[in-house]
Amino acid sequence: MTEIPEHLLKRSKERKAALSGEAPPADASDAGTAVEAAPAAAPVAAAAVPDVAPEPEPEAPIAPYVQQANDRKKMPFWIVPVLLTLPFWAMMYVGTLERVPQGLTGLLGHGEELYVESGCSGCHGGEGGGGIGPALADGEVHISFTSLEDNVVWIARGSAIVGTGNNYTSADSERPRAVAGQMPGFGSEGANSLTAEEILSVALYVRTQFHNDEFGGERDLELVPVLNELIETGEIELPESFEGASLTADDVASWIAPAREALAALEG
Ligand code: HEC
Repeated sequence: MTEIPEHLLKRSKERKAALSGEAPPADASDAGTAVEAAPAAAPVAAAAVPDVAPEPEPEAPIAPYVQQANDRKKMPFWIVPVLLTLPFWAMMYVGTLERVPQGLTGLLGHGEELYVESGCSGCHGGEGGGGIGPALADGEVHISFTSLEDNVVWIARGSAIVGTGNNYTSADSERPRAVAGQMPGFGSEGANSLTAEEILSVALYVRTQFHNDEFGGERDLELVPVLNELIETGEIELPESFEGASLTADDVASWIAPAREALAALEG
């Protein structure tokens, strides 16, 4: 048998003891420092842990609104182009609203249509501000024509029938004007023929719109509902056609006489 040297046996015992955590053998007086250090090191380490790495705090519960946001579906890919077109929709929507407060019906609604369809807006501007033809807005048309009847006669005749250089405004106008341009006549014999109802409508339209109210437009406006009513009930029968060249203010006055009388009776 081979003799295992005493010091080797001793070291082996010490290792075993160290690994199993047992106290070193009593006789291990000259054991290595590692053996002695092991039990001492443990408490130090245990004490140090709380300072160096404090126990992580328990995870905060997720707030319900955060959770909801996390669960919510993400925006669909097509939303951006749709959102980009939104201002245009808004503008178009506002555009449709702009005309609602005006809400012209009856003669005035018809006049509004005719002002564009008959080409008036092309020469006098969409808002009556003027162009090839003079401005109709801000009282201008009332200075030229002191009565609705005179105004209708002018539109029926136009520049050619009155004749270049001749006065076309009302006899009592503060600012008489002579024909210098080419306003077409809208009598039934011409190319731009209008019926009596149509020429009344467009004349009432230009006199009551375009900021003309305080310059005489309000007076004309009073006539409108009465005319609408009497035309609807058939108490006023307007001619389908009339001759622009021979139309007079008296003719126009006779067309609308029942409305003027009714209005006078209403006002007492
Ligand atoms: C081709 C252009 C043209 C068209 C279309 C036209 N006008 Fe005129 N209008 C004129 C001119 C020009 C005058 C000025 C008279 C002149 O110099 O012959 C005038 C004058 C007037 C005046 C008098 C303005 C003032 O205060 O002196 C009124 C009111 C008027 N037009 C209404 C109308 C109406 C309503 C229509 C549509 C039914 C119309 N016009 C269509 C060119 C036009």
